[in-house]
Amino acid sequence: MRIAIFASGYGSNLESILTAISNGECAAQCVCIVTDRKKSRARLLAQEHGIPCSYVPMKAYETRELWNEALIETLKPFDVQLVVLAGFMRLLGPNFIEAYENRIINIHPSLLPLFPGIDAPQQAIDSDVTLSGCTVHLVDNGIDTGAPLASVIVPVFADDTAEELHERIKIEERKLYPLTIHRIAIGEITLSSR
Ligand code: GRF
Repeated sequence: MRIAIFASGYGSNLESILTAISNGECAAQCVCIVTDRKKSRARLLAQEHGIPCSYVPMKAYETRELWNEALIETLKPFDVQLVVLAGFMRLLGPNFIEAYENRIINIHPSLLPLFPGIDAPQQAIDSDVTLSGCTVHLVDNGIDTGAPLASVIVPVFADDTAEELHERIKIEERKLYPLTIHRIAIGEITLSSR
């Protein structure tokens, strides 16, 4: 399965997917990496793994729609079957989502539908829950509202800071994301909005 990975930040999920692919644990081929941040570690990781990396910042375009058209053009030559958002910090617009309908996935640091949007670990702490986790889900036009595909539970401790909880969740993300992509690649998980 030919995948493109979009990342903005530290890229630990991106790294875990690339490592799993290299180790033969994930039956996907990362054909292209896309980042919207100049200083993203994604560019370095892409270089290390010999994968083409495109820098497509939203600020270079007048509207989100034009930026999304540019993203669609960027992916065109790569014949991508699945778009994997790994800490991609911008919302994609309807034109991109339609172009890759039911073929975009994201990972979010909560048990969706609880705590969508930003600061999910802080939201969990503020809600006094004792369990949270991470969810891989399909991307639709809402904010973290697409169909959940896989999740892992992580305990929330009474004295946790949001950073501590997030780090504990990210340990699980780095296992769950490559595994879920593998399960999609081998047909164990079927992508449909239902
Ligand atoms: C992860 O917690 C992921 O759930 C969220 O953004 C974070 C990205 O971390 N969508 P990293 O850049 O992969 O280290």
